[in-house]
This record gives sequence, C-alpha cells and structure tokens, in this order.
Amino acid sequence: MNSSMFSSFPRGWFRIALSSDIKKGQTKTVHYFGQDIVIFRGESGKVSVFDPHCPHMGAHLGVGGKVVGDTLRCPFHGWCFNHNGEAVHVPHAKRIPQKAKARTWTVNETGGVIFVYYHWDVSVPAEPFPDLSILQDTTWSCRSSFTMKLNANLYEQAENAVDRAHFDVVHHKTLMFKAESEDEKVELKANGDIVDIYANYYTKYGPLALKTTAHLHLMGIGCGENTFSGQCIPFKLVALGTPVENNVCETEFIILTKRIPIPFIGKLVNSVIMWGAKRELKCDIPIWENKIFREHPILSDFDGPVMKFRKWFSQFYPMSKPQSNIIAISRDKLTDRNKFG
Ligand code: FES
Ligand SMILES: [Fe+2]
Repeated sequence: MNSSMFSSFPRGWFRIALSSDIKKGQTKTVHYFGQDIVIFRGESGKVSVFDPHCPHMGAHLGVGGKVVGDTLRCPFHGWCFNHNGEAVHVPHAKRIPQKAKARTWTVNETGGVIFVYYHWDVSVPAEPFPDLSILQDTTWSCRSSFTMKLNANLYEQAENAVDRAHFDVVHHKTLMFKAESEDEKVELKANGDIVDIYANYYTKYGPLALKTTAHLHLMGIGCGENTFSGQCIPFKLVALGTPVENNVCETEFIILTKRIPIPFIGKLVNSVIMWGAKRELKCDIPIWENKIFREHPILSDFDGPVMKFRKWFSQFYPMSKPQSNIIAISRDKLTDRNKFG
C-alpha cells in the first residue's frame, strides 16, 4: 500500500463509537485520526468528546479519569470539566484559572451511534450533520452490525462501489456485471458533499442469477447508506468509515432489514445478509491492503466512473503532500458488534 493524498485525514462527520459502548457515568478512550480521543457520558446521559490530555499538567483524561455528575474528573489533580470542556471545579483553589478549558469535539449521537466532526483546522465550524434518519426508521428496525479494520485508507474501500470490473473476478462470480445491456453500467451523480452511485448487477445463487440494484448514497466520506433491491431481499447497509491512522481505517457496517412480525425470522434474515457481506468483504480485503494507488490508472471501457469518483472524493482532503506509510498490526479483520432485534 503506497501513499496518496487519500492517506491523510479527510474532513467530515465520522463514527467513533456505538452508544451502547458507553453507559451513563462511563468513559472510553478510542483512537482515530492518529490520536486518542476520550468519550464520556455524564449522569444526565449526555455524551461529550475530549482531546486526551488535561489542560492543567497534561494527564490523560481517559486513563483513570472519572465521571462526576455531568463532569469529567482528571485523574491527576482532580480538576472537573463540564461538557463544554470548561473547568468547573479545581480542588482547594480560590479561583478557577481563566484558560482552564479542555478541547472538546463537536458531537452528534443519533440512531445508536456517536459521531464527531473532524477538520484538520480545528477552528473551522462543523458542517451540518448528514441525514442518517434511516438509523431511527422503525420500518427498518431489524439490525446487526460488525466492524472491519483495514490496513488501507478509506478511499481504497470506497472505490469498490464504482469499480465494476472487479466484481466478476474478486467476488468469484457471486456478484457480477454481465455488461450485456446498457442499464448494467455504474452511474454516479455528484452534488456537493453528496454522491449517489447506482449499479445494476447480478447476484448468483447456484444456477440462479438474480438482478440486484444497489444505490449508494454517500454523505461525505464517513457516512454511506447502501440500499439493495430488485430480485433480492431488500436491505440497507449503512457503512460508517473512520480513519485510524494514515492508511489505516475502520468501518462499522450496520445491516438493516424490514421489521418482520416474527422476530426470529427477522434475525435470521439479518444474519444471512451479514454472513454474505462478510464473505464478500473478505475477498476484497487482501486486494485493498496490498495494492498501490495508481494516480493515473490505465482504464478500459468496461471500468466504472473511477476518475469521476476520485474527483468527488478529493474535495474532502487537505491538499497536502503524500504522507509516510504507517504499518499497523491488524487483529481480527471483521468483528461482530452488538445485535438488536
Ligand atoms: S493534570 Fe489534570 S488536573 Fe492536573
Ligand atoms: Fe469488492
């Protein structure tokens, strides 16, 4: 995996945890955007996200930090910070120093997921939160999720959506484009920070080749809603990708199927889709983790709209020079998360 402009961290809204990961009165340290990030949930239930090091003398707030009421208490000298990051209690001091403020991140908790806004220039205000109402849609309430850690940047996996030429080869003809009719091409419609990608292809089940339509609605880089329909069980795959380091990312895949009166059947359908999604991702992972980025690929007339997609994707990155590789040891590639009925 070599470096490219997509190796650095893009701006936008990104998932950093599931709501169920942090209960009232708990803290959790996660690692994204090349740094530790401390999440805490106050006794009121409100979640806040802090840079890790205390503005006083630099202790790590996530290592021994405690929730006290609706504040985060530093483990070193006991300063307490409210949800805005302001010190509201300094033990034994007559006055709270004016500059006593921890840096907080802009947070949004929606549909059981905690998101933060990232920009390399921290003075830039957050953009509007994307429309992820699907995560709260009661008609699509049968849900399961898993995470994928990848030694590649977010672009490498995202390009999958427009790269129709790889389906036949990498996915062992279980997903394929026959390229016999015009409507089987991949179409891309970009509009500012949103892009819609439409693809008609075939999903093979033994001798059956069922026509499937996939619509990917990407809201920035970190939030994608895939809708699958046609001759298949309709389902949604919400993909929430977050950069971990340069050229390392993690994605939470949330599978949503329609609410079915018999919960057991709903869970079974959901599990089968998860099994299929994991099976296909396992085919892609070794390619993504070992390929190089060809800035000027030699494309054939069968390739999808790769260059159009790159142009749209590039708007989220600082125009920085390629950054050095970081080699990370990845543990289990695909990790199950909590399941919901
Ligand atoms: S370092 Fe946090 S209170 Fe002193
Ligand atoms: Fe793929």
